[in-house]
Amino acid sequence: MSTETPTDTSSGPASGPSRNFPDSLHIVDHPLILHKLTLMRDKNNSSASFRTLLREISLLLAYEVLRDLPMTTMRIETPITEMEAPILAGKKLVLIPILRAGSGFLDGMLELVPSARVGHIGLFRDPKTLQPVEYFLKLPDNMETRTTVIVDPMLATANSAIAAIQRLKEEGAKDIRFLCLLAAPEGVHAFAQAHPDVPVYTAAVDSHLNEKGYIVPGLGDAGDRIFGTK
Ligand code: PRP
Ligand code: URA
Repeated sequence: MSTETPTDTSSGPASGPSRNFPDSLHIVDHPLILHKLTLMRDKNNSSASFRTLLREISLLLAYEVLRDLPMTTMRIETPITEMEAPILAGKKLVLIPILRAGSGFLDGMLELVPSARVGHIGLFRDPKTLQPVEYFLKLPDNMETRTTVIVDPMLATANSAIAAIQRLKEEGAKDIRFLCLLAAPEGVHAFAQAHPDVPVYTAAVDSHLNEKGYIVPGLGDAGDRIFGTK
């Protein structure tokens, strides 16, 4: 049985990491999202249910992260009259999951924006050093002209997200946002220091990281929970 029992994620431990978060952090704490997140945290939830909830949450989070997508207008005729109506400008959006766990975010977001391009970056966290190891990269062309949304359920130390974004910047990406489900305060601060230009969207910032780099109270290993591995 775990010795960690905090359920109130609004405050860290007495000597824990600062909860003075940068303005670039957006906490999307809609009741529907928090309800689903609680179900996902529950260790008794099956992988099938975890995947379904992640897909549902990704739809809700996507609204916020895509709120300022560039718009244009087009001339249409309603049954009543002509009008100049708002429409998304171009097909310049690219969604990039950090494999593996980030792929759980993808289906829901693609339902909302089916014309988005999809890139992939594969990273895993070395369990001893907590440093990311890159094993895959495939991106659409003209990254410098696109709005890029990088998705991964977990921002723990932030080493993975920091490295992924560094790589995408090297490939030309400029307008970048990072979307996750759960963050640790340590990761939020490290990320803001490394990439102050990249806004972060998350459903919650938990208490702290444990000695193995897991978010507390967290939800465990997101990839293992999604795919039923260990
Ligand atoms: C998890 C998660 C993030 C990373 C977060 O991936 O999906 O990518 O850990 O940790 P960090 O912020 O400390 O870098 P993991 O390395 O377990 O790989 P997986 O998605 O293949 O399971
Ligand atoms: N990666 C996860 O999947 N979970 C954590 O708590 C930390 C990193």
